[in-house]
Amino acid sequence: MGRTVANGLLRKGPPGAERKDRLMKDGNFLRENNARHMWHPMAHPADSLANPPKIITGGKGVRIVDVDGHETIDAVGGLWNVNLGYSCDPVKQAIAAQLEQLPYYSTFRGTSNDAVIELSYDLRAFFAPDGLSRAVFTSGGSDGVEIALRLARQYHKVRGEAGRTKYLSLKKGYHGTHTGGASVNGNPNFRTQYEPLLPGCFHIPAPYTYRNPFDETDPERLAQLCLAALEDEIAFQGVGTIAAFIMEPVLGAGGVIPPHASFMPGVREICDRNGILLIADEVITAYGRTGSWTGSRHWAVRPDFAVTAKAITNGYFPFGAVMIADHVAELFETDATGKANVASGYTYSGHPVGAAAAIACLKETQRLNVAENAAARGAEMMAGLEALRARHAVVGDVRGGEGLMNALELVADRDTKKPLEAARIRRIFDATHAGGVMVRVSGPNLILSPPLILTADDVQAILTALDAGLAAA
Ligand SMILES: Cc1ncc(COP(=O)(O)O)c(C=O)c1O
Repeated sequence: MGRTVANGLLRKGPPGAERKDRLMKDGNFLRENNARHMWHPMAHPADSLANPPKIITGGKGVRIVDVDGHETIDAVGGLWNVNLGYSCDPVKQAIAAQLEQLPYYSTFRGTSNDAVIELSYDLRAFFAPDGLSRAVFTSGGSDGVEIALRLARQYHKVRGEAGRTKYLSLKKGYHGTHTGGASVNGNPNFRTQYEPLLPGCFHIPAPYTYRNPFDETDPERLAQLCLAALEDEIAFQGVGTIAAFIMEPVLGAGGVIPPHASFMPGVREICDRNGILLIADEVITAYGRTGSWTGSRHWAVRPDFAVTAKAITNGYFPFGAVMIADHVAELFETDATGKANVASGYTYSGHPVGAAAAIACLKETQRLNVAENAAARGAEMMAGLEALRARHAVVGDVRGGEGLMNALELVADRDTKKPLEAARIRRIFDATHAGGVMVRVSGPNLILSPPLILTADDVQAILTALDAGLAAA
């Protein structure tokens, strides 16, 4: 007998009725129970109770609908992951078919499954231009960051340089919330309440032109200053102590900070010169978001690891892949000491349903050439946001210009750059939402990461709603 929820009551229903009833639960039940029995990530539990989250009940194309029937363009793209929108049939079908055929089998030593083998073959082809040829599968981005950090240390141990254990990263960077990832994370919000974090993690300034310790607004000069800071930190720590540098090709959750084109190649060169591995955290940049197929390729850099997740399944299944460079793979695969045993992984690493979703998603991502659309729509979005900055004094900074990832940094005063008060940001959000567009508020930033299948009309609709939103500040 299925247990179904209706009108706030748990009751028994006939077999098969559960799903139908679940879809038909009434709005009052949802509103009454919203945030009462769960804590929301990245939110204060008291705030979730005082300002209940929007209840999303449906999605179609690039649009979502909430429990009140209010439809909006999802300019958040789920959470940087629903690149193909909410109606991607090939991925839905692949998931359904795989559930029918084999809903789970492990990839721990001794077993595999057909879907994950096929996916590893496809990913090798997709990432060949990045020089990445092996995959370790995960359930998401934070899992992947953890794997890459661990494998980087292990690489040096296998090579006989066991003293290389430290990690370097960028302030403002976001690398998920596992303890290793939070330790290389560059935002105190994700760190302070969980300290002490992993020892041996050090941060350098981000190439963030709007605010930086050098008071430098020129992106190229700032990139050089940040690179000099990296060299300085390496010399200070001792080159033989550092395992890896981890960075997002374009910083995302930290407020969409695209570095100057010279920055990531400069990091690569410094890492090469000092025997330090480069981990590209491509959890949001892989699969087309920057207008290139990967963020590393966007800057013509070949990383040693690329952490990918999110859009690998279009958000329809929790899944990720850490891609590994040929030379790292060769070291591990030719090790005869046993040190290269990969003692990292998860029950759901290589989950066949996720793998089936990813196979279909990768095909559809390429068939629709979403990278090209991201570049074209991203240019329109950037131009439109610049025009909004000219019209609205609360817009202190507009960032983007690399595909479909943008941020508006909101200020109360352009001269002092004092962040806009939360209540005024809330008014902007509410008016934008009323105007038919969901955006993401992150501190003083409005972040846009819409599906990559966005049309030119959708871009204009987002800009129109934002214009109305900003006017309500
Ligand atoms: C760059 C980056 N790394 C890691 C993560 C963590 O991924 P997940 O939330 O899937 O664990 C995110 C999530 O937004 C991310 O943007």
